[in-house]
This record gives sequence, structure tokens and C-alpha cells, in this order.
Amino acid sequence: MSYRVAVITLSDKGAAGVRQDESGPLVRKIVETEGFQVISEEILKDGIEPLKSQLIKICDQGLADLVLTTGGTGFSERDLTPEATLQVSERLVPGISEAMRQESLKITKRAMLSRGVSVIRKKTLIVNLPGSPKAVRENLGYIMDTLSHGLGILC
Ligand code: MTE
Repeated sequence: MSYRVAVITLSDKGAAGVRQDESGPLVRKIVETEGFQVISEEILKDGIEPLKSQLIKICDQGLADLVLTTGGTGFSERDLTPEATLQVSERLVPGISEAMRQESLKITKRAMLSRGVSVIRKKTLIVNLPGSPKAVRENLGYIMDTLSHGLGILC
């Protein structure tokens, strides 16, 4: 099935236009290759509020089946993607983030530094990916086929 995906990049520099976002377009490319339909792709500045209100809008208006965020999962003070995601969570999906970290640890020990979470709100699954294109490829590539099965049950 052609699930609807919203792609959100969290980056102060990307939102200010001083850094080219490569990760959002890469997420789009990977999901479109799997036959998913990207309904929106946007860059938000780091922090709780911009992401939190966008997630509530997307989920509560039923605009997407899947939200993929990239960036803001690390240790810098402005990295608050997991906190914003948890604030809108109705149900936790720890297994997706556990699986990404487990697989990523085979590639780099720095995978333990991503604090990303996965949750469900209404009928939308939200998954936090780390920010670099390399990390996006490695994490999303690993979960992609299993996401379809989960979305088939959720949607
Ligand atoms: N996971 C994979 N598979 N590959 C990577 O290169 N980078 C790590 C980690 N997860 C990485 C990864 C690094 S260096 C950091 S700091 C964290 O993701 C958080 O990244 P973010 O702050 O860009 O979200």
C-alpha cells in the first residue's frame, strides 16, 4: 500500500537557510523507492515547540500515516526531537528505535549517542532518525520493510 509520509528535518542551520539539508531529501528518496507517498517535506528549527505543534497537526488531522523526523536526537542543548515526540505520544513503540540502535552499533559505536524514539499518536507512527545522511541511510534502510507491516496493522 502507498502509505503517506511526512518528512521533517530538525536543524537550526537548515531552517535559517545557512546549511543545505541533505537528509530530508534522502528520506524522501528512500521511502519513495519503497512506493510510499511523501505528502510534505519541511525543515523546522530545533527545540520542542515547532516540532510538537507540527506533529499534533499531522496526527490529529490524519494527514500522514508515518512521520519521519531526522536530526536533533543527539546531546547538544538544542537537540530536543525525542522530548517533543514523547510529549505527543499516546503509545510507545520502543522496538523500532531499539532495532535501529542495535543494527547501527554494528557499524559505529556512536549509534549509542542517538536518543531517538518511536511513538504512535492516533493512527500515525512517528519515528526519529538521527541527522546525518549516513545515519539516515543506515537506520531507515534497516527498518523500511518492517514499517510496512506495522503500518498495515495501524492504518
Ligand atoms: N547511527 C548510524 N547508523 N550511523 C551513524 O553514523 N551517528 C551517530 C548516531 N547514530 C550515526 C548513528 C552520532 S555521531 C550521533 S551524535 C547521533 O546519532 C545523534 O545524531 P543527531 O544529533 O544528528 O540526531
